[in-house]
Amino acid sequence: MNRKTILITGANSGLGFEAAKQLAKQGHEIILLCRNKEKGEIAVSEIKSYSNNQNIHLYTANLASQKSIEAVAQQIKKDISKLDVLLNNAGGVFNNFQLSEDGIEMTIANNHFNYFWLTYYLFDLLKNGKDARIINVASDSHYSAKKNDIESFYQKKGKYFVLSAYEQSKLANVLFTYTLAEKANPYNITVNALHPGFVYTPIGEKNGNKFFGMVWSAASKLFGLSVEKGARSHIYLASSDEVKDISGKYFHNCKAKKSSSISYDKNLQAMLWNESERKSGFTFL
Ligand SMILES: NC(=O)c1ccc[n+]([C@@H]2O[C@H](COP(=O)([O-])OP(=O)(O)OC[C@H]3O[C@@H](n4cnc5c(N)ncnc54)[C@H](OP(=O)(O)O)[C@@H]3O)[C@@H](O)[C@H]2O)c1
Repeated sequence: MNRKTILITGANSGLGFEAAKQLAKQGHEIILLCRNKEKGEIAVSEIKSYSNNQNIHLYTANLASQKSIEAVAQQIKKDISKLDVLLNNAGGVFNNFQLSEDGIEMTIANNHFNYFWLTYYLFDLLKNGKDARIINVASDSHYSAKKNDIESFYQKKGKYFVLSAYEQSKLANVLFTYTLAEKANPYNITVNALHPGFVYTPIGEKNGNKFFGMVWSAASKLFGLSVEKGARSHIYLASSDEVKDISGKYFHNCKAKKSSSISYDKNLQAMLWNESERKSGFTFL
């Protein structure tokens, strides 16, 4: 087996935790990047005992903060010299309009700028990796997004609606994937996005009102997939040789499928990329 170094964000809960467990069991070195140290340590200990793999490491950061991501990336770069897989998985749903510490609406900060910043700050490690891969966890909810409205990244426009904000952020994941896939091609780094399915996890119970959380939990418990099923594409894209050379695709159930028609819009892709660079204050590729 070709042992990889795999970094997974949001690896203490839901899909990220399941992917970390299974990839650890395959024998890979796993780096968990989590928000909360205590939750992360519990996850590390459970993953070690489940997989019998001691090569499991924990870092913490607030992935909705550029400063926090830059700081943790610097720390990681001191400790390791290469990364084979970056699995951008951490995400959330925000029931109310709020701005992050960078002045960005929380959903787009936490779900898009998170991936953009972490990938930028760790890109040198990926360049040193073997057949390196970047995987962005998106969602089929992106099909409902009609556009990326840049103004709404920074200000409340009309009534804030939790699902519209989430759909827009997940469209951003797909747009980012397609642009990055082209830009990362000269470095032999592949970039793909995935939809895990509708999966029973606590995602809807965080950051919001109790009612939304209860509805989410009840619906996903009744109709959702198990995390074991939901994390299959995470594991497949991170570890399978079948996708070693595949890049710029959107996966569901371990198969590439078409994403929304506007996600292929080059102008929209460029607009998101340029705005992400502008707001971040750096040029990325
Ligand atoms: N569940 C579904 O049906 C579904 C469907 C489509 C796509 N997805 C996507 O799947 C991914 C994983 O979600 P999940 O369902 O597994 O939810 P989850 O169980 O809530 O896991 C999300 C993970 O991300 C972490 N996280 C969120 N914001 C963070 C931040 N600012 N800094 C650091 N860590 C942060 C969470 O940390 P804490 O534990 O500390 O909160 C948690 O570990 C997300 O990108 C989501 O959009 C899920």
